[in-house]
Amino acid sequence: MMKPKIVIGNWKMNKDFEEAEDLISTIEDELADFQLQTEVVLCPPAIYAELVTDHASEEGSNFYAGLQNVSEYENGAYTGEISAEMQASMDVSFCIVGHSERRKYFGETDEIVLKKMHRLLANDIVPVMCCGETLEERKAGKHFEIVEKQIESTICTLTPEELERVMIAYEPIWAIGTGETATPEQAQEMLAFIRSLIEKKFGTQLAVFTYILYGGSCNAKNALELFSQPDVDGGLIGGASLKADEFIKIIEAAETVIKDN
Ligand code: 13P
Repeated sequence: MMKPKIVIGNWKMNKDFEEAEDLISTIEDELADFQLQTEVVLCPPAIYAELVTDHASEEGSNFYAGLQNVSEYENGAYTGEISAEMQASMDVSFCIVGHSERRKYFGETDEIVLKKMHRLLANDIVPVMCCGETLEERKAGKHFEIVEKQIESTICTLTPEELERVMIAYEPIWAIGTGETATPEQAQEMLAFIRSLIEKKFGTQLAVFTYILYGGSCNAKNALELFSQPDVDGGLIGGASLKADEFIKIIEAAETVIKDN
């Protein structure tokens, strides 16, 4: 039997307060009608953390609260930062780390990504660790090498108990916000490769158990085909998570795949 899919909405730096409130309650209302097998996570900007955790904790709500980033440090004199302890105290369940935009614009290295993962794990928050190559790296045929390095220096340094509480998202940078999705075959090929790296280090059982998602221009039109690939355990959705109807259709695609298997 196929394991449940995960669909995560990464709002990035979008929406004012009213729009955020509106989007969260619309998604909440729409999902209330479903007997969902898919796990849904909403990751708004951190300033709206209380909005999303309040809604996620309401009775009958069908989604989890997530955020997009966390400090690599414990509480202390780090102006402007938000710690994993703070997130845990607000019942945040998931947090994205190592997104390519953070790697590119904010100098996030694999070393920092690993520190952030440890902070989250210590506070019982699931890190969703992103990896992926640039267009130049893919054109040069280096995509497997790049992703292997990212996985080796982060995921492969964890203990099996830690890995059980971590998710991975493969997001080819050339597919993010460009409208150019990886083909289902390209997504499957890379996700199977990532799973094989985990299998080599941690064994088959943990490799099968680990959630590996695809992200990059995933939308209502292509989600079904992407999610039908055997190694694609769900999606990390950017632009298409900003519109309730589009995001719901993506969740429906995940449900269809689970029911058909
Ligand atoms: P888009 O879905 O907008 O391409 O963004 C993907 C992404 O970066 C999700 O984290």
